[in-house]
Amino acid sequence: MNREDTVSTTKRVLDLIDRNTLDCAPAARRLPSNMFIANERHLQDKAFIARSPHAIAYTGEIKRGHYLTRSVASVPVLLVRDKDGLLRAFLNACAHRGACVAQGEGKAQRFKCSYHAWCYDQQGRLIARPGPEHFDGIDEAGLGLKPLPVVEERGLVIVGLQDGVEVSGHLDSVAHALEYPYQEYEHLKTWEFTVEANWKLVVDVNFEGYHFPFLHKNSLHPIALGNASFDLFDRHGRWAFPLRSIDQLREIPEEQWPDCFEGTVVYFLFPSCVLVQGSTASQMIRVYPGSHPGQAQVQFSYMLNGPATEEEREGHLQGAQFAIELLRGEDFVAAAECQQGFEAGRDAIVLGSNEPLLQHIHRVWDEAVGTNYK
Ligand code: FES
Ligand SMILES: [Fe+2]
Repeated sequence: MNREDTVSTTKRVLDLIDRNTLDCAPAARRLPSNMFIANERHLQDKAFIARSPHAIAYTGEIKRGHYLTRSVASVPVLLVRDKDGLLRAFLNACAHRGACVAQGEGKAQRFKCSYHAWCYDQQGRLIARPGPEHFDGIDEAGLGLKPLPVVEERGLVIVGLQDGVEVSGHLDSVAHALEYPYQEYEHLKTWEFTVEANWKLVVDVNFEGYHFPFLHKNSLHPIALGNASFDLFDRHGRWAFPLRSIDQLREIPEEQWPDCFEGTVVYFLFPSCVLVQGSTASQMIRVYPGSHPGQAQVQFSYMLNGPATEEEREGHLQGAQFAIELLRGEDFVAAAECQQGFEAGRDAIVLGSNEPLLQHIHRVWDEAVGTNYK
C-alpha cells in the first residue's frame, strides 16, 4: 500500500465511520456446509491446492548461502539461496528413499540426509554417498533433488508444488497494492498449529470484522472498528479495518498523515495465504488442509517490518503473543465449534452482505474446484 493508496483508503474508512457502515456485497449468500465436511470436497480442495502457486515466505527470510524448509500442504519444500543470490526450490525428499535432506533453517553449502547420509549441493546435485559401488547400474543423472517451480515477486517467494505449475505472474493483479519493503522484513518467530476445523473456516476468520464486538469483545474490539474497506484483485483481495485512533487524523492536514494506514490491512493471496500488515510488524498466516476435512494445518510467521534492537524484539514478542492468543484462544475455538455444528447436521451457512470478502473467497475456491454453489 503506497502513500496514495493509504490516503485514499483512510478517506474511504473515515467516510464509512461517518455513515456507520462498511463496504458491503450486494446481497447475502447461502452456501451448503458440506464443503467443510465432505470427503469428496476435501480431495477436490487438496487437488486444486496442489496445482496452485503458493506464497510461502518473504524473500528476506532466506539470506545468501542460507536455506529454509517449509511444509506446504503436506509437501516438504526446501528453499536454498546460493552465494550469488539465486533462489532455488526443491522437494525436500532424498533420491535414495525419500527422507528429508534438511530440517528447519540455517546456513549450509551441503545437505546431508540423516537416514543414510546421501549428500547434495546447493544446486540439488548428488555429490556424495556411502558405498556408491552398491548402486552400480543406476543412472546418477536422476539422483539429484527434484526442483520445484519458484519465483520471487514483490518480495514474496512463490512456489509450485509440482512440475508445470506456472508461478510467474501469480501476484500480477495484486502487485500494485503490495508495495511494502518485504526484502527488509526480519523474521521474529513462526508458530505451527493443528486446528480441528476445515482449512476454509480457518482462512475465513481473518476476513470479516462482524465478529469483533462479540468474539473479541475484550481483546480487539476495544481498539479496532469494523468500518472496513474491501478491495478485490482478481482472485486475491484485501480489507482494511481501522484502529479507533484513526479519528485523530480528522484534526490533521492530509499531507501530515502517516505513511501507514492507521489500522490493519489484511490480504488474501489465493489460495490460502493471509498477509496481515501492521505499521511495525506483520504476519504471514499459511493455512492448508489437514489429514481429514475437519482438520487444518496452520503456520503463523511473525515478521518485523525492519531491523529492531533486542529491546524492540522483546516488545514485538509480546505483540506476537497477543496475536497468537487472539487466534488460538478465540478465532480457532470458534472455527472448531462451527466444524462441530456442520458435522452435527447444520447443513447451510449464510454469508451476510457485511462479509463481502468471505463471499469472494468462497466464490474463487468454488471456481477452483469446479463447483458452483448457489
Ligand atoms: S533416504 Fe536419504 S540417504 Fe537414504
Ligand atoms: Fe477474529
